[in-house]
Amino acid sequence: MKSVTPRPSGPEVVGALYHANVPSTILYCSDTLRPRRVDTHFSAEAAQVGELGGRIALIDHDALLSGDVAAAVARVPEGLGPTWYRGWMIPPDRYEELAAAVERRGAHLVTTSAMYRGAHELPGWYRELSGLTPASAWTPTPPGVVPSDRQLLDLVSALPAGEGMVKDYVKSRKHEPDACLIPDISDVEQLRAVVSRFVERQDTDLVGGIVLRHREEFRTLDGRVAELRTWWVDGELATSGPHPDTPGATGDPDLGRLAEAVRRLDRRFVTVDLAQRVDGVWRVIELGDGQVSDFPAEGDMTPLLSALLAAP
Ligand SMILES: Nc1ncnc2c1ncn2[C@@H]1O[C@H](COP(=O)(O)OP(=O)(O)O)[C@@H](O)[C@H]1O
Ligand SMILES: [Mg+2]
Repeated sequence: MKSVTPRPSGPEVVGALYHANVPSTILYCSDTLRPRRVDTHFSAEAAQVGELGGRIALIDHDALLSGDVAAAVARVPEGLGPTWYRGWMIPPDRYEELAAAVERRGAHLVTTSAMYRGAHELPGWYRELSGLTPASAWTPTPPGVVPSDRQLLDLVSALPAGEGMVKDYVKSRKHEPDACLIPDISDVEQLRAVVSRFVERQDTDLVGGIVLRHREEFRTLDGRVAELRTWWVDGELATSGPHPDTPGATGDPDLGRLAEAVRRLDRRFVTVDLAQRVDGVWRVIELGDGQVSDFPAEGDMTPLLSALLAAP
């Protein structure tokens, strides 16, 4: 990948942390059955944080999502200061509660709840990246509600003709084509049918509203769009590699324009997923909050964790 200066990483950063004696902290989710331990999905990563001179603390993700925020932060020690979170996705409203609860214990999440929402949800990043990502239009809707035909056609009028896809502000149902892909967005019957199936199956998990996106044709690997995942801390590329869903994906996109857009966005820690269109142009598939983005099991987390622990 070109056009971005990598952050310093590795032993120098670790050394600096030890000397300054101000290890940063990362909050991880505790294991459901063994609440004093890190959730097994993140345990190797958390161990590496310790090796790099950082500290970890635990939150109870189940308690947070069930609305018991006091229980969720009961194991967070007092006075942690600035801290990151790395773990399972958190709905933005719950993240706001988490941020307030850790603040009451003398810690603060480096990614504010406004930054989190603005990275986690497509409407929060789309405008800054609009030249780099497929055309999209959205409308807020509560779970269970299908937009009217008029609303759907309004959204479609903002998109180029052709194929489309539906998702909510955060997730698609990419493994269920009949609730995701729209072969012809001008066909309102078809559009309503796909969106209705999506709304029904998302049920109460639907976040924010309905997003319709123009579908572009991308290069694939084993039948899936081959995606790279890039990781950005304070507007600098920390690391990049294959997306966890397409471990064999490779490529060398020029990240110059993306780097400018990410800096304009002014978020502390984000991921950007990229795919190469069949005409060779690299496009942004989605941006996400880096705290809740999955890292491939076989990848090297050292540069990313070092960048997080070195961030002010
Ligand atoms: N505009 C698009 N055109 C073509 N394929 C797309 C487009 N947007 C997403 N996809 C494909 O659909 C998958 C899911 O979309 P994505 O926005 O990443 O949702 P999710 O949050 O569910 O991962 C992507 O991995 C990519 O393969
Ligand atoms: Mg995705």
